[in-house]
Amino acid sequence: MDSKREKDMETECAKITTVLLKSRTGEFDLESILFLKLRNLGIYDLGCIGECINLERLDLSGNNITNLGPLSPLRRLLVLNLSANRISNLEPLSSCESLQSLNVAGNVIPSVDNLHALKSLKKLESIRLKDNTYNYSNPVCKNSTYRTLILEIFPNMKVLDGERVVGRGSDLYQLCKDIDDTIKAGMYKNGQLPEVSRVMGAIKTQSPQPRTFSRGIQTVTLIPGDGIGPEISTAVMKIFEAAKAPIQWEERNVTAIKGPGGKWMIPPEAKESMDKHKIGLKGPLKTPIAAGHPSMNLLLRKTFDLYANVRPCVSIEGYKTPYTDVDLVTIRENTEGEYSGIEHVIVDGVVQSIKLITEEASRRIAEYAFEYARNNQRTSVTAVHKANIMRMSDGLFLRKCREVAENFKDVKFTEMYLDTVCLNMVQDPSQFDVLVMPNLYGDILSDLCAGLIGGLGVTPSGNIGANGVAIFESVHGTAPDIAGKDMANPTALLLSAVMMLRHMGLHGHAKKIETACYDTIRDKKVLTKDLGGNSKCSEFTADICRRVQDMD
Ligand SMILES: NC(=O)c1ccc[n+]([C@@H]2O[C@H](COP(=O)([O-])OP(=O)(O)OC[C@H]3O[C@@H](n4cnc5c(N)ncnc54)[C@H](O)[C@@H]3O)[C@@H](O)[C@H]2O)c1
Repeated sequence: MDSKREKDMETECAKITTVLLKSRTGEFDLESILFLKLRNLGIYDLGCIGECINLERLDLSGNNITNLGPLSPLRRLLVLNLSANRISNLEPLSSCESLQSLNVAGNVIPSVDNLHALKSLKKLESIRLKDNTYNYSNPVCKNSTYRTLILEIFPNMKVLDGERVVGRGSDLYQLCKDIDDTIKAGMYKNGQLPEVSRVMGAIKTQSPQPRTFSRGIQTVTLIPGDGIGPEISTAVMKIFEAAKAPIQWEERNVTAIKGPGGKWMIPPEAKESMDKHKIGLKGPLKTPIAAGHPSMNLLLRKTFDLYANVRPCVSIEGYKTPYTDVDLVTIRENTEGEYSGIEHVIVDGVVQSIKLITEEASRRIAEYAFEYARNNQRTSVTAVHKANIMRMSDGLFLRKCREVAENFKDVKFTEMYLDTVCLNMVQDPSQFDVLVMPNLYGDILSDLCAGLIGGLGVTPSGNIGANGVAIFESVHGTAPDIAGKDMANPTALLLSAVMMLRHMGLHGHAKKIETACYDTIRDKKVLTKDLGGNSKCSEFTADICRRVQDMD
């Protein structure tokens, strides 16, 4: 890291420290902070650090901390360095359920018995305890009683005081070493930590994405689309403004144009905007009927390699559907399978269409599904397939899912035939959590699931791509029958925009807008026609804006 950047980060760090420990300035979105290094600053009161609920790595070494209470809300914390403080009670950490690595060396913990309070931390695999009051005489803690006691409390402990517990922990040893090295490097380098999990939409990219401590106003490419698209986009912009979401929009139209060699492409201004800002929100686009004209949605998917289509389907209170307890997410491989577009006539009357399944695409969608499950507190992933019939293609897809599952032992993995999923889904959708599947199955099953919660008008969707690009969209069409009549329901686009906020780490704003939207629907006083009411799109929007403002 060059020294200017290092200095900038240090200044940034100092500002965050002031916010956390002294007074709130409103300058930082605390929920977007993932890593913090607050070493040797004389801190004794941890202030509002508990509001950084997405914090994953925290270094508080060399302070005067005695009370760990403010750390209890940090459920996503993976690595915590508390070395060289004045801590005697570890009990408040018992709710930090994700904790993998804890350094409490050089404190005043009176006895190994104090560690019983952390017994519930099932993921804790590395601990540093040396130089505490109870073992000053044995600073490296190599004596066997000490080790035996620790291993009795934590049978899964793999690294103790930086040393591998015999016969265990080769991978974790390396991980802990990497983490330690990162901490030692002086600054957390954005995106360079091993397999950093993050908020919704997390991807393990080959090229690390830049990530900053604070996020000011961020720009999002807005593609309003056709038909009702501009009306529902305006509704979303108004609601975002009411919620003071730190987003500015760069509006771009996408109409396919013919590039060199007659190849269809999206206009360069739209591509440049997406390349620059990485995040887009898109209304519906009409598919021109002209021969040879590609679907714009397909073109966008190809242009940005949007390989994962994610659709959370959650029952909406107050909107009557056959089931009230749907809470699942479909994750569809978006780039190949039956939709790879390889078709040809063999002889007159005989057409062949190729279903393309690759190891690489199967692995990356499986990894995305498991990371999504882990990052969104979901407990299981079901691979949906027909490997009994398509032994090679679906067999490969399934094999990759199984392999990836091995790396996510904390997420339950099941596999199920597509037909069985359909049967069970319409009988009892509550048994499903995250479902991952190849393209065609995903296309069909995701609409089926949307139907369970009230249809495409209320179902959000996100398309996640390589290199950090993501486009969130409503999945309904342009509704030409009601376009321009102020009758459209903006819920699907609004909830897609909420997904987008979560993807960007803006959880507070996402929650506020989502709650206002659901409250409006539950209240039933102001509903658009498709939801069973008589209100206009603008009235529905105004009601959500009012609720959002009332929350301030
Ligand atoms: N994601 C997309 O961009 C997308 C998806 C599907 C269809 N389309 C395109 O949209 C055009 C029309 O397609 P279609 O008529 O088959 O499907 P459609 O989804 O536009 O309309 C189907 C019915 O649902 C209603 N509807 C849809 N969205 C609504 C909303 N937000 N609020 C209230 N009512 C809503 C419409 O009024 C209509 O009665 C076509 O050109 C098609 O290619 C685009």
